[in-house]
Amino acid sequence: MPKPYSQVAPSIDVHLQPDWARIALERDVRRALTVKPRVLPPKWFYDARGSALFHQITQLKEYYPTETERRILAQQAATIVDLSGAETLIELGSGTSDKTRVLLDAFTQRNQLQRFVPFDVSEAPLRQAMDTLGLQYPHLSLRGIVGDFTQHLGLLPTGGRRLIAFLGGTIGNFYPEERQIFLENVARTLQPGDGLLLGTDLIKDPVRLVAAYDDPGGVTAEFNLNALHVINRTLGANFDVTAWEHVALWDAEHEWMDLRVQSKRLQSVHVHALDLTVSFETGDWIQTEISTKFRQERVQQELTSAGFDSVTSWTDPAGDFNLSLALR
Ligand code: SAH
Ligand code: AVI
Repeated sequence: MPKPYSQVAPSIDVHLQPDWARIALERDVRRALTVKPRVLPPKWFYDARGSALFHQITQLKEYYPTETERRILAQQAATIVDLSGAETLIELGSGTSDKTRVLLDAFTQRNQLQRFVPFDVSEAPLRQAMDTLGLQYPHLSLRGIVGDFTQHLGLLPTGGRRLIAFLGGTIGNFYPEERQIFLENVARTLQPGDGLLLGTDLIKDPVRLVAAYDDPGGVTAEFNLNALHVINRTLGANFDVTAWEHVALWDAEHEWMDLRVQSKRLQSVHVHALDLTVSFETGDWIQTEISTKFRQERVQQELTSAGFDSVTSWTDPAGDFNLSLALR
């Protein structure tokens, strides 16, 4: 018998105070501009424009992760539904939740899922995604959360079997220590029987990797440089964005893509909110993102040492991308 469909109207809990972005960005930018190496966390890409640019990236022919992960999801969706037994699906860094619909469709076929909880730091795209999801899955209780997954995992709803999805390879954007803390926090948040569905990008020919992060049309460059627009707008800075360029390098030692914005000339930048002026020489850079590429064994091992019991992993025939279901 079908379960009774939820009559609860879609809702969004905003856990970031209106001045959160300014306060958190002030701290991150002060550090990025005064401590070397200069590093800025990647969450600042994703205002409405940055989120739209990321969506464009996912449609580039050079950017293989999205479509590859979608194909793995499509092939394994029924198995994931069965193995997870989830009644609640939570998606961290959900963005458009586009690929997640593959899972939602499979759950819908089995009439198993009751609640979907997309969670993202970026409110506008989350609201947009929720509007479409509400129409497409009227039987689901939809509960969006605007929050930071490095700080707010304690806010995830409890009750019933839960599956947390963290797709797209976003885990690769953490530095190794942050990644370990994040995985341990996720494992601690989950109850025995709950699961984590984790997408990880795999190591491959550096030529393909660099092409995926430096497309000829310059969409990734726009996305990367958008962090400077966000700083200008939020903190009253005067970065001349045309005086900076996008750089994407393969770091073979750390096995990650290294994304930077690099100064094209001698210049100084004033950040009004910090009362700070910083000089940059030609070639000076700020690292805006790393995107770690994994070996399958490393993913298994990190999940196990974070506290997950059984790990099942799938990849595409070319071995480009990995999807792991880890159960507590
Ligand atoms: N999961 C989607 C989107 C990946 S883009 C996919 O697989 O295509 C990364 C997403 O994570 C963006 O929507 C961004 O807004 C969100 N994000 C980045 N840092 C975050 C953080 N600290 N907390 C919550 N969401 C974050
Ligand atoms: C969100 N994340 C997984 C993307 C990645 O591939 O690391 C972000 C991105 N940066 C440049 N292109 C895409």
